[in-house]
Amino acid sequence: MIDERIFAEIRYERGRNDAPPGFPSMPEIPGGRYTRQDFFDLEVEHVFRKSWVMAGHVEEVPAPGAYKLFTKLLGAPILIVRGRDDVVRAFYNTCRHRGAPVVKDEAGRCNVLRCQYHSWAYDFDGRLIQVPDEHDFGDFDKEARGLIPVRCEIYRGVIFVNQDPDAAPLIDWMGPLAEEWSWTGLETLRVDYRWSRIIDCNWKCALDAFQEVYHINTLHGATVGAMLEYKAATMGLLPGGHSRMCVRYTGADIDNAPEGGWPPGEMYRRTSVAQTLWPCLNIPWGPGTGKFILFWPRGVAECEVEVLGVGEDWGDGPLPAERAANNEQFDNILMEDVLNLEAIQASLNSGAFTGMMLNYQERRIYWSHEQIDRAIGAAQVPEGLAVTPMLEPWVERMDGPQVPGR
Ligand code: FES
Ligand SMILES: [Fe+2]
Repeated sequence: MIDERIFAEIRYERGRNDAPPGFPSMPEIPGGRYTRQDFFDLEVEHVFRKSWVMAGHVEEVPAPGAYKLFTKLLGAPILIVRGRDDVVRAFYNTCRHRGAPVVKDEAGRCNVLRCQYHSWAYDFDGRLIQVPDEHDFGDFDKEARGLIPVRCEIYRGVIFVNQDPDAAPLIDWMGPLAEEWSWTGLETLRVDYRWSRIIDCNWKCALDAFQEVYHINTLHGATVGAMLEYKAATMGLLPGGHSRMCVRYTGADIDNAPEGGWPPGEMYRRTSVAQTLWPCLNIPWGPGTGKFILFWPRGVAECEVEVLGVGEDWGDGPLPAERAANNEQFDNILMEDVLNLEAIQASLNSGAFTGMMLNYQERRIYWSHEQIDRAIGAAQVPEGLAVTPMLEPWVERMDGPQVPGR
């Protein structure tokens, strides 16, 4: 049972005075992975164009004809629309006439997708159904000029897209996280929080801050630092670059947690859980809340951090005061991280900085980097920028504790 194993691991982590026997010293992560345009271009091409990434929540397209634009993927304007058959689909927002955006509003609802340039009209399943003065095109096959589809799959109310037509199904991509997230009852939750900010730092700089708790006593002394015991943290490296971190709440008795509360599932109730779905989604779960944090590259030294929070349905009326206060607290925590990031990037850019030195507690970051190189292909990573793959033997096994002595 995963819960028991996690509690045992937390006890082990809390009690240890040394890194686990046999855990390797990780070589530094070359700084150029955060500053060089050629590496960034490879990430866009091989990571972001070929991964399942979260594109929204079904609440945003509640009825047939409801649509939203998803433009967070560099160079890929994507339109997400709910069909008459209730299926949510994604297409490039690119008219097959002369390439204009079919839809210009961020979101809306329509009877037909009518291009705002010359009024070519598409049905919600992408079929081209009407062309003004069609006879003037001569030999013309409407069927061949439907909107170009983008892979789109829903996991319990969360919309994911993948630009790679040959990608494996989302559920395979998610691996063990698909089951772990199912314990939260995600499909019954409502969106109760949104936040977004453009930050002058590489997307990984921002993501890294959410993949460890080594920094919480210093950077978040009055907030997360007071809530969590950073040393009582266990981390699961999962296949595909994904990972999980469970941290003991300060003073909590994980063996005798009170009953009740949400998210259900002992792991969620008794520890602070956060998972990373590689490449760019991190979800910290807390009592009554899950925050989907997305890290979107905008340039080698610029990203957007976008957060969508979900929680239990609160019925009609405004969000209960306690939840609103928790969300406000989350704003403060985010800002503590954000205010640190631009200065880090400036320092990375200086050239004086050669690379990042990670410790055992920061191994999730190294694991993400290993996966980036696997996606790009080792032979294509520019000279001097590769990370040495070494954490595979430390990937979580499903049959028991990983570390000797636990
Ligand atoms: S570009 Fe869309 S109708 Fe002309
Ligand atoms: Fe932080």
